[in-house]
Amino acid sequence: MNMPEAQPASPALPARVLLANPRGFCAGVRRAIEAVEGALERHGAPVYVRRAIVHNRDVVERLESLGAVFVQDVDTIPEGSVTILSAHGSARGVRQAADSRGLRVVDAVCPLVAKVHAEVEAWYRAGRHVILIGHAGHPEVIGTLGQVPAGAISVISQAGDLDRLDLPSNSAVSYAVQTTFAMRDAETLIAAIEARFADVAGPRASDICYATTNRQAAIEAIAAQCDLVLVVGDEMSSNARRLVEVAKAAGCREAVLIASAAALPMAKVLSAPTIGLTAAASTPESAIAQVCLTLRALGCTLIETAGSKERVRFKPVDLDALTRPAPAGSLDDRLAQLRRAIDTALESAIGPARGRDRRLWEAMRYAAIGGGKRFRALLVAAVSELVGGTHAQALRVGAAIECVHAQSLIHDDLPCMDNDDLRRGRPTLHRKFDEATAVLAGDALLALAFEILADEATHPDAQVRAQLVLALARAVGQDGLAGGQMMDLYPPARPSAQDLFECESRKTGALIRFAVEAGALLGRCSGEERARLLRFAENLGLVFQIRDDMLDAIGNAAQLGKAVGKDAGAGRNSATALLGLEGAADQASRLELACNEALDPFGARARPLRDLTRFAVQRMH
Ligand code: IPE
Ligand code: IPE
Ligand code: MG
Ligand code: MG
Ligand code: MG
Repeated sequence: MNMPEAQPASPALPARVLLANPRGFCAGVRRAIEAVEGALERHGAPVYVRRAIVHNRDVVERLESLGAVFVQDVDTIPEGSVTILSAHGSARGVRQAADSRGLRVVDAVCPLVAKVHAEVEAWYRAGRHVILIGHAGHPEVIGTLGQVPAGAISVISQAGDLDRLDLPSNSAVSYAVQTTFAMRDAETLIAAIEARFADVAGPRASDICYATTNRQAAIEAIAAQCDLVLVVGDEMSSNARRLVEVAKAAGCREAVLIASAAALPMAKVLSAPTIGLTAAASTPESAIAQVCLTLRALGCTLIETAGSKERVRFKPVDLDALTRPAPAGSLDDRLAQLRRAIDTALESAIGPARGRDRRLWEAMRYAAIGGGKRFRALLVAAVSELVGGTHAQALRVGAAIECVHAQSLIHDDLPCMDNDDLRRGRPTLHRKFDEATAVLAGDALLALAFEILADEATHPDAQVRAQLVLALARAVGQDGLAGGQMMDLYPPARPSAQDLFECESRKTGALIRFAVEAGALLGRCSGEERARLLRFAENLGLVFQIRDDMLDAIGNAAQLGKAVGKDAGAGRNSATALLGLEGAADQASRLELACNEALDPFGARARPLRDLTRFAVQRMH
């Protein structure tokens, strides 16, 4: 009955097409698509969607035509925008990144994927190593891995992967399965896991979802009778590709994935007496109907086969986030989020130890990572956000500033300067390592700051990068930090308030001014707005150090993470020594007023900067 491929002709008997049941959309896909439609309806375009909401080009293109904007990364989404996370589920870090950008997030994760997330987290907490049966690199697998710390889960997709797992057989393990994995393959792998480990825990009900199970069972039931199986679905779709494999494994010689009727393999269709037809859980009914229509036009008889009826319905995705105002986030939340992001940026800027001097590398990390309020980095981020720079750029500049700041603290604590033993609640660098290492770690961190700024990743425009480098050089040099520290160490015999303010606004204020100036540069802010921001920065820098002086007198060492009473003990010129505590507090509140006055034209948009000012004046650490 086979016709030569080159000359397709109608078969002697019109082919019959067995329609697998169920096929097409599952409840999770329907729900995720409805979330995007609902968000567009309630909020209006644009609504941002991180990654393909489901793996189907037709679906994505239709939503795009309605005003959805699909992006790879939340970093490229404008602050405060409505953002939908895909049905495959997202790593926790994605949610954090979205929150830190003040995005209004709607998570369209399929409830059955969310169930797997909850399971792996529970197993991780119970001290079990999780073996995830899934396809490495698939978004669902990436999302599941991102529920627990790196290394807590191993991904396997075939027996060889399990053999290569470096885990003793007495380890407590548990397994989880990608919801769209092939049922039979999963069964084999689970049996292999159980044979290898004595202590294995698994999910109470299969992780493979009802829709995958039903679609695979339906095509398995008819595949052996078919000369050709057509799977309507997208190349991106994992569950679609599994249906092709399942059809072949169940005895059909030829199974092909087609995205639409236009992709029908005509020669094969016209020479197959019995055709099986199914569709992935992400394939819209319109694509399936089009294929059916074309087959009918070719003279095929379409027969619905018996199969299970699906009644699964999920509660719609909660769209309340859309009506809430964009979360400004409390200052504490924002600080916590930024702190983590800055640490990550610093880790990657310092880079690996390999090929480097290990002691220097460790010292740099010790001083730069995991401590400090990150006040200056938050300031860059807030200014950049106010004037339209991107968060990613602000993060890099923030990391550069934190390198300089760490360097200034290392040197400030040395015996030849303030001779301090405690910094950020830990031994100072020279106490932990030694003085020479402290000097050199300071040098290396200072150099790293300029390296970060000069790197193309910080800003695509070389002129902006050059301006950043120039501004930082000025902030740390004779007229900035270094000059200010000299004034602190060698003050005039009878320093006036003017002398003190000059010293403070150089040794501490210069770097704070740079943070603001850099934020303005990232947003290419100029003219009156820039002048206003610099005035704000001038006052903020001074108030920050005045508060530092006050805390030396009234603060608590445990909370501050550094010794107190040092300024008075060393007979240092400080705001409290010169003005008294009340005088210093009075000066601080005047400066706060001046900060806020400078921000006036920005109105409510300057709220994060006002919050930072408040923090600088009232902080206890
Ligand atoms: C302490 O700076 C030294 C000054 C320049 C006043 P911070 O108070 O910002 O220190 P960290 O970064 O939070 O440790
Ligand atoms: C620090 O002033 C200024 C720097 C440039 C590091 P302090 O010497 O008062 O800072 P702390 O009190 O040691 O943090
Ligand atoms: Mg000092
Ligand atoms: Mg000091
Ligand atoms: Mg101090």
